[in-house]
Amino acid sequence: MKRKVLSALLSMAMAATLLVGCGDSGSAPAASTDTAAPADTAAPADTAAPADTASGGGKKVGVAMPTQSSERWINDGANMKAKLEALGYEVDLQYAEDDIQAQVSQVENMIASGANCLVIASIDSDALVNVEAQAKEAGIPIIAYDRLLKNTDAVSYYASFDNKGVGTAIAKYIEEKKDLAGAKAAGESYTIEFFMGSPDDNNAKMLYDGIIEVLQPYLDDGTLVCKSGRTSFDDTCILRWSQETAQQNCENYLTGFYADEDLDIACTAFDGFAYGVKSALEGAGYTEANWPLVTGQDAELMAVKNIISGKQTMSIYKDTRLLADKCVTMVQAVLEGTEPEINDTEQYNNGVITVPSYLCTPIAVDKDNYEEVIVGGGYYTAEQLAE
Ligand code: BGC
Repeated sequence: MKRKVLSALLSMAMAATLLVGCGDSGSAPAASTDTAAPADTAAPADTAAPADTASGGGKKVGVAMPTQSSERWINDGANMKAKLEALGYEVDLQYAEDDIQAQVSQVENMIASGANCLVIASIDSDALVNVEAQAKEAGIPIIAYDRLLKNTDAVSYYASFDNKGVGTAIAKYIEEKKDLAGAKAAGESYTIEFFMGSPDDNNAKMLYDGIIEVLQPYLDDGTLVCKSGRTSFDDTCILRWSQETAQQNCENYLTGFYADEDLDIACTAFDGFAYGVKSALEGAGYTEANWPLVTGQDAELMAVKNIISGKQTMSIYKDTRLLADKCVTMVQAVLEGTEPEINDTEQYNNGVITVPSYLCTPIAVDKDNYEEVIVGGGYYTAEQLAE
């Protein structure tokens, strides 16, 4: 933390020399070196299905997931499969490893092989428009899982978390832990850099909007100083949520702008980014004494371990068991004619229709509450966290 000494002109000139915006990255999917825990150790303890009797009657549900490079999607897939199978459905679970064309082919195959319903967590929310139209033509209903499917009228329901709320929770955490109001009154400032999600994922922009709504006033009055000058979504988004690009961006920022002053806050939108930032900080010689506040999202097992060891400050806990439960009720609704629980009919206009949605509540977790929320909630056991 420093007194306000803004070198905005210098920073902006240097920013122009860095190639870090999402438009530039074009990189391969996240390597997730720190990330991918095997499904058996990472899967939340409770994958029990809702307390219904088997009703599926052998109907087939195709579940298309984006990637196994991040633990959360492994858990999402495992939960959905277990809960649907417990209800008597046959499940075709596919991962596309962040390859858009592969996901299109997987969904085409699901349609061709007689799926009765499709659950899709898209890689690119616009890329499935044609295959979604094919499904509609064939009378196969579609549920959007966590990521909104854009520009289609073929989607019946959307199950997700309050995506803007995730951003708000991250920003409010920063505001409170760094006492930004107090810093402002004292004329002090903190340095901050942003690492936002993939531009083809509707959630990423909503999350950014939640963050910037809270933090923009502090950027405007100089309480927060972004030395790279990169505060817009376009300048900070990272294609395909690549951990590798986040690390690269952080390395570039640290070299270009933080030779004489520490980075105080790394505001990241994803645990994978926090792992990349951690590697960059270690490479630049940061220690416990000057480690920044590092945010994340998903409360992955590795992230919670990093929170315990102090290498990540917080994450957003999104209980994938709850999300799967809500999604399963939507599958039952379209296949059995039941009524799913819906709590939002306004926010998620996909460009063609407003999709009836259920939004679960995200919870900020850090070292003070992870035991109560995560261990107490049965998401990970104390043993898993100690391994
Ligand atoms: C999800 C996040 C996840 C991100 C990267 C988003 O669509 O909402 O929970 O961290 O994708 O996988």
